[in-house]
Amino acid sequence: MSYFSEANSTATVNGRIGPDTDPRLATVMASLVRHLHDFIKDVGLTQEEWDYAIGFLTRTGQICSAERQEFILLSDVLGVSMLVDAINNRRPEGATENTVFGPFHVMDAPIRQMGDNITLDGKGESCLFEGRVLDLDGNPIEGVTVDVWSDNAEGYYDVQQPGIQPKWNNRGRFITGPDGRYSFRGIKPVAYPIPDDGPVGQMLAQLGRHPYRPAHMHYLVTAPGYQRLVTHTFVGGDEYLTSDAVFGVKDTLIAPYEQVEGGETLWRSPYDFVLVPV
Ligand code: BEZ
Ligand code: FE
Repeated sequence: MSYFSEANSTATVNGRIGPDTDPRLATVMASLVRHLHDFIKDVGLTQEEWDYAIGFLTRTGQICSAERQEFILLSDVLGVSMLVDAINNRRPEGATENTVFGPFHVMDAPIRQMGDNITLDGKGESCLFEGRVLDLDGNPIEGVTVDVWSDNAEGYYDVQQPGIQPKWNNRGRFITGPDGRYSFRGIKPVAYPIPDDGPVGQMLAQLGRHPYRPAHMHYLVTAPGYQRLVTHTFVGGDEYLTSDAVFGVKDTLIAPYEQVEGGETLWRSPYDFVLVPV
């Protein structure tokens, strides 16, 4: 037995893991300790820096509430959310890719009829979203719940502005029929900053990073017998596509936005989703 030292730190700490520890927990914690100690040695972390980090994490916890999850935001801006998502959602060629879920989904949005308008505040440039939900062989899938949400024309989700925006503004759920088709009217989404008035926003500012996400429409696409799809479609040409604050953009998720002449909406955004069986 040797006492803790700089040289043996990782082995000493991990040597305390008991023999009856759950094997997966032992693997994860031993790796975490190894990487954490290597990081501290790599940068030669000072006492002041560690004290600052503890203060930062404390403030991150203190700002969390039922409405705000600053730790998830921290994970998002560090690319951790997207990395965990990528590792856990490796999909075959042709399947629609996942991206970050984000904090603004609300369960049990109203079920609407195909073609319905989800924009209740009358603001923004109207857009028809339509397409099909298909399996990997190109067959339409019936009974799919297409749950959609976006910000409003001013860059805020309804839940960020209770009492200002109508409840369920720019949200809804649509259930596909035998043709696998979905369609709804919303707005062409706009770019917006993630909540940046807390420790994560301060960190971004100190790192010279902006807090903006490129304009996107969120989708949660679920059907019995198929993997859950959490994704967005992005507006091509958005200035933040290559610098998304949370690294959510993928080439295949950039959707067409076509201007419509003399139609009911100013824009049309066609996009098909392809689901993978469980
Ligand atoms: C969003 O797209 O709604 C979002 C994602 C990650 C962090 C903040 C917002
Ligand atoms: Fe969003």
